[in-house]
Amino acid sequence: MNKNNNELFINNGLNKIVDEKVVSFHMPGHKNGKLYNKLEYTNRLENLYKNDTTEIPGTDNLHSPEDIIKNSILRAQKVFKSGKTYYLINGSTCGIEAAIMAMCSPKDKLILSRDSHQSAVNGCILGDIVPIYIKSKIDKYTNIQRGNSFDDVKKEIDENQDAKVLFLTYPTYYGITFELKKMIDYAHSKGIIVIIDEAHGAHLGLSEKLPKTALECGADIVIQSTHKTLPAFTQSSMMHISKDALESGRVDTDRIEKMLKMTETSSPSYILMQSLEIAVDIYEKYGKELMEELLENIDEFKKNIDKIKEDTNKLENKNVEFFNIHNENDLTKVFISSLEVGLTGYEFEEILRKEHNIQAELSNYSGVLMITTIGNEKQDFEKLENALIKIYKKSLKENLKKIEPVDYPYELIPQMALTPREAFYYKKAKKNVKIEEAIGKICGENIVPYPPGVCMIAAGEIIPKKIMDYLKYCKKEGMEITGVKDSKFEYIQIIDAE
Ligand SMILES: Cc1ncc(COP(=O)(O)O)c(C=O)c1O
Repeated sequence: MNKNNNELFINNGLNKIVDEKVVSFHMPGHKNGKLYNKLEYTNRLENLYKNDTTEIPGTDNLHSPEDIIKNSILRAQKVFKSGKTYYLINGSTCGIEAAIMAMCSPKDKLILSRDSHQSAVNGCILGDIVPIYIKSKIDKYTNIQRGNSFDDVKKEIDENQDAKVLFLTYPTYYGITFELKKMIDYAHSKGIIVIIDEAHGAHLGLSEKLPKTALECGADIVIQSTHKTLPAFTQSSMMHISKDALESGRVDTDRIEKMLKMTETSSPSYILMQSLEIAVDIYEKYGKELMEELLENIDEFKKNIDKIKEDTNKLENKNVEFFNIHNENDLTKVFISSLEVGLTGYEFEEILRKEHNIQAELSNYSGVLMITTIGNEKQDFEKLENALIKIYKKSLKENLKKIEPVDYPYELIPQMALTPREAFYYKKAKKNVKIEEAIGKICGENIVPYPPGVCMIAAGEIIPKKIMDYLKYCKKEGMEITGVKDSKFEYIQIIDAE
């Protein structure tokens, strides 16, 4: 009997958001459980707390599955067309770290895209692996990550023929895909294993209108965040090994399993495993039909916006234009640029939430990213459309002016003075200096704007002025910077190397 609920801080905070019925254009993919309601899975889920258990007779064991977990995973393997699948209950993070460390030995080279998630760099710290970065492409106006070009990937492979693994993010957070099959074929021709971070693409197999999956492109190991774009609970992910990688012996699953035991808890959550199984069930039974509906809703939303744009373009004496929608490759990702309406993405995200009860996935300087999934409904898009019209009208009334984009220096890869591991374990204490004094010094921490959680300057790299100027400017405008000790971003840790 709980007499006083005032101190249930997390419970109360979360319940408040549920009560407010915030429209979700963010992960997880089940959209505040709306999809479970719609498909009548709630009777299975409402008693979930009773199923919170441990390894006892009848519950099997995630780390050596032989019974119910094995059967569930075998089904997932069939549904996702893999040679072997692993359920991950510490997110894709633990899968990425385990895959990298299992496929590379200490001092091996890992060729990876500069836009890789921080877990890939952390894998290098843990495993003493040397990262070789591939330049990643960024759209100058929207700052959308556009992945890699074949020529840039080929260049790094040709210059590092002793590398063991190629690691790419496909699709990017913003849904952009690229010539993955060609890159994988080239890597394989040089004896290089390919690991794909498909954290944002677990749903790609649900429609021919979406890009091919990484497994279809020939990847050896694929890690997917089932919780991001499919209806699994947060932290529930999967790792797939391709049939070809297994049959050819390119991937040693024994090493993967040993690494997973190190990066995952020894008490894996049965609730998360159950949610993975439910996501597989929904994917198989309803996924294609729901994806078709979602793509139709997005199409209609875009047509409506085009029409509004056409009408508003006719207005005279205005300093702003209507929002631009960017939606390509993975059509479930909708980026709305707001600079033309006189708002930075940070301001736009805040207005959406505070004044329209709509939560985006993330904002950058230029706009916001909406993650849509099979859990979104037609009304969500109608609410979004209405909000855009109201925000635009307010900009007109307040006489706001279009904002120029900021030059995003992600293509600049800082010079590496120390490997991530050497920097992490550097023998002398790191020094705190004012950020203005840090230019040209060796960075002592990972500077990671979040989202999307990509390192702009990694520990061990020489700090370039251009990146620092950008970070300072965006921080002032509202960007969150993680990885650094001083969250105000006035001081930074440097390594005072001899
Ligand atoms: C590209 C990318 N890879 C991997 C991850 C890690 O995924 P998880 O949150 O499932 O650990 C993220 C998380 O946001 C991500 O954006």
